[in-house]
Amino acid sequence: MSDLLGDMRRTNSCCELGADDVGKEVVLMGWVQRRRDHGGVIFVDLRDRHGLTQVVFNPLVDKAIHEKAHVIRTEYVLGVRGKVEKRPEGMVNPNLITGAIEVMVTELKILNVAKTPPFLIEDNVDVSETIRLKHRHLDLRRNQLQKNLILRHRAAESVRHYLNQNGFLDIETPFLTRSTPEGARDYLVPSRVNPGQFYALPQSPQIFKQLLMISCFDRYYQIVRCFRDEDLRADRQPEFTQIDIEMSFVGEDDVMNVAEGMMKTLFRDVRGEEVQAPFMRLTYDEALARFGLDKPDTRFGLELVDVSDIIKGSGFKVFASVVEKGGIVKALNAKGCIDFSRKEIDDLADLVSIYKAKGLAWIKVREDAWQSPIAKFFDQEEKERLAQRIDMQPGDLVFFVADQPKITNEALGHLRNHIGQRLGLIDEHKFNFLWVTHFPLLEYDENEHRYQAMHHPFTAPLEEDYALLKDDLLAVRSRAYDLVLNGSEIGGGSIRIHQRELQEKVLEALGMDREAYEAKFGFLLSALDSGAPPHGGIAIGFDRLVMILCGQPSIRDVIAFPKTQRAACLLTSAPSDAVKAQLDELNLKIKAGS
Ligand code: AMO
Ligand code: AMP
Repeated sequence: MSDLLGDMRRTNSCCELGADDVGKEVVLMGWVQRRRDHGGVIFVDLRDRHGLTQVVFNPLVDKAIHEKAHVIRTEYVLGVRGKVEKRPEGMVNPNLITGAIEVMVTELKILNVAKTPPFLIEDNVDVSETIRLKHRHLDLRRNQLQKNLILRHRAAESVRHYLNQNGFLDIETPFLTRSTPEGARDYLVPSRVNPGQFYALPQSPQIFKQLLMISCFDRYYQIVRCFRDEDLRADRQPEFTQIDIEMSFVGEDDVMNVAEGMMKTLFRDVRGEEVQAPFMRLTYDEALARFGLDKPDTRFGLELVDVSDIIKGSGFKVFASVVEKGGIVKALNAKGCIDFSRKEIDDLADLVSIYKAKGLAWIKVREDAWQSPIAKFFDQEEKERLAQRIDMQPGDLVFFVADQPKITNEALGHLRNHIGQRLGLIDEHKFNFLWVTHFPLLEYDENEHRYQAMHHPFTAPLEEDYALLKDDLLAVRSRAYDLVLNGSEIGGGSIRIHQRELQEKVLEALGMDREAYEAKFGFLLSALDSGAPPHGGIAIGFDRLVMILCGQPSIRDVIAFPKTQRAACLLTSAPSDAVKAQLDELNLKIKAGS
């Protein structure tokens, strides 16, 4: 570096300069944001990690340097030496931290040239995400992404500090391992030395952190990468980061206390925001009843109302028969939305159809009567009961879905979020944390015709529900808990099974016989047999958390090198073909036609 820079040594970074520095000689190094030629004087906005500074090339100060500055273009890398000067009257830029000063250049080194970038490095850049991801190294120069990644760093620092202070040990766990059952598909890695065999990249360090508890490490954490081959969305990546925590000799409250303390510290450290703890808690059943979803956004009302009992005996046969078959009818009162047009209501019906709802019935509450395709089915008494239960006032628009509970709740839960957003009911400055507890232990997978763990197979059932494990599996509740922030699931965990017998029972409920579970989890079962302490933990989705801390719409905005919806890295063109020699070495053949 010294060859290139000569005796020029950076003394300042861009945003550090202010009125106090006037008269000082400084050396700045950075990239050219913009170059303006104002009738003989050349102005360059020089950018580094910390911000922008205006540097000035004036022929009256140094003719040769001014001449040299003519070749400067956007994104060139410069080193400049110069004197900090107060900007002339009327030239102060209040939008810039360094807006009161400029640097009059006395020495210039062009450290590198740059091709014209495919897009301007600006805040609101008008270019597709595909192009930005292809040139991610340039995209990352943008102020917003710089801010996001700096905040991400500070968040990790705060979390580590908090956990270190509270006696947690940072212990690494393997990436080349065997399948861990978190419910997604595994990424497999072929083993060269064991032909035909594969490692799985961990979906989480779940089993290892439990083994660490059995090994007497009592408080573990890791900020760790997890790998899941699943369909991607704005808040999902195939590789993502968890703050992974496990503790021995604890119950739910102990784990929740640690997580709450960590969030309080984190929000104070990186946002200067005071978060109220303890966080609100809702059972899974209550969350679904009131909000339709197990990750409710509690920043606004519009709670769902069950009207199954009123509908059941009514003349609205379509709905009544749904209730008779075990379904439910729920209502969502979109207060004051009477002016929604037919087209708008149809669009909302399309929205709920994504969640498999068969329709979206509605009532507009006018002063004198109901305007609705379904009003004719109700007698006066039913109308009065509905009006009272749903708190129907003139000006309201009430939506109904009738279906199996899962569909009704999901459809109306998402409709509720949509309407909350659309009506501007959500205070974007609020951070509403919420614990959802008492999840069902198992759910039935209609496609695969078998029970699945709702969290993972190592989650303990609630003790008072043990008896139900025999004959009413879906009624068994678990000791799992999710942490929800503003309607986003940012973490999940549970108290674990620490006794072999109970673990075997749960694995059996999941449809595994002894041979199957011994082959898959024999090592864990024998570890449980070797004196496993009661233990439990949680994993926080770090990317999602940072996304919310940064107020960004996608986790791709807080990951330096994210993947697309098709799990591709556009920058490096991964995944890519393997050469034949590699495949041969791994004993692999690509099927013809793929
Ligand atoms: P779980 O599977 O609930 O629990 O994951 C914990 C949290 O990780 C985040 N998350 C994701 N973030 C981005 N992209 C993804 N594909 C993705 N998948 C999950 C979510 C989620 O709440 N081992 C257990 C934890 C435990 O029991 O201690 C686990 O992994 O925010
Ligand atoms: P119909 O009498 O079939 O025209 O239905 C009357 C209204 O009820 C229409 O607005 C439908 O969209 C709606 N609807 C039909 N089935 C359902 C359902 N399962 N849940 C909610 N709305 C429905």
